[in-house]
Amino acid sequence: MDIIRVKDYDELSEKACKILTNEIKKSGSSVFGLATGSTPEGLYQQLIEKYKKGNISFADVTSFNLDEYVGLAADDPNSYRYYMDEKLFSHIDLPDEQAFLPNGIADDPDKECHDYEALIKDAGYIDLQVLGLGLNGHIGFNEPGTPVDRRTHVVDLDESTREANARFFNSLDDVPKKALTIGIGSIMESKKIVLLVSGEKKADAVKRLVNGEVSEDFPASILQKHNNVILIADEEALSKL
Ligand code: F6R
Repeated sequence: MDIIRVKDYDELSEKACKILTNEIKKSGSSVFGLATGSTPEGLYQQLIEKYKKGNISFADVTSFNLDEYVGLAADDPNSYRYYMDEKLFSHIDLPDEQAFLPNGIADDPDKECHDYEALIKDAGYIDLQVLGLGLNGHIGFNEPGTPVDRRTHVVDLDESTREANARFFNSLDDVPKKALTIGIGSIMESKKIVLLVSGEKKADAVKRLVNGEVSEDFPASILQKHNNVILIADEEALSKL
């Protein structure tokens, strides 16, 4: 795992933006895996700025988001589809039909997972996967205990994850109990992974990610076995290494 140490969140977003734009410049038709949450917001802002300045185009890019809450429709402000539209998609030229998220209101969530996996395969798998890190080591919504070969599946969210994400909702009761997520097996098939971590509250998780044993109890630890992972982390997040 390569570690890029940055001063702060702004520099983290800049570095990540550079990696994604280089990827687009290199191949044009890149397949990105994208994350939601607080951490990639700065990256998305920077990508929008680059696009507005005419420096990049997403016309030939395809994107697959990691996850979506079960029960939330695209027009629900707490759905990840809504987040992506707001924070990135509506500001750039990525065609709608090339921007995929699992459908949170699919009639048959298991079939939705199966179909999502097939779409990723048809696209030639993910060239560059952007990840954030959960306090409990989750990547995507693969909570502790998830087998490392899991494909896209329906998960019961950990109470700690629901509590961490309650800040986006009116109350903890409003946070869905289930989600659809790309599996760890699918994440590990990405050609390159860029993991973004910022802030002191993630310092213990970063320590376990880098130095801990590889274990299903801390899903992100499996990334130690991937041969092309770049961890971009700020000084606070790296403070316990
Ligand atoms: C988001 C996702 C999650 C987050 C993680 C960190 O699509 O899959 O794994 O990346 O929960 O979230 P933040 O960035 O809000 O700390």
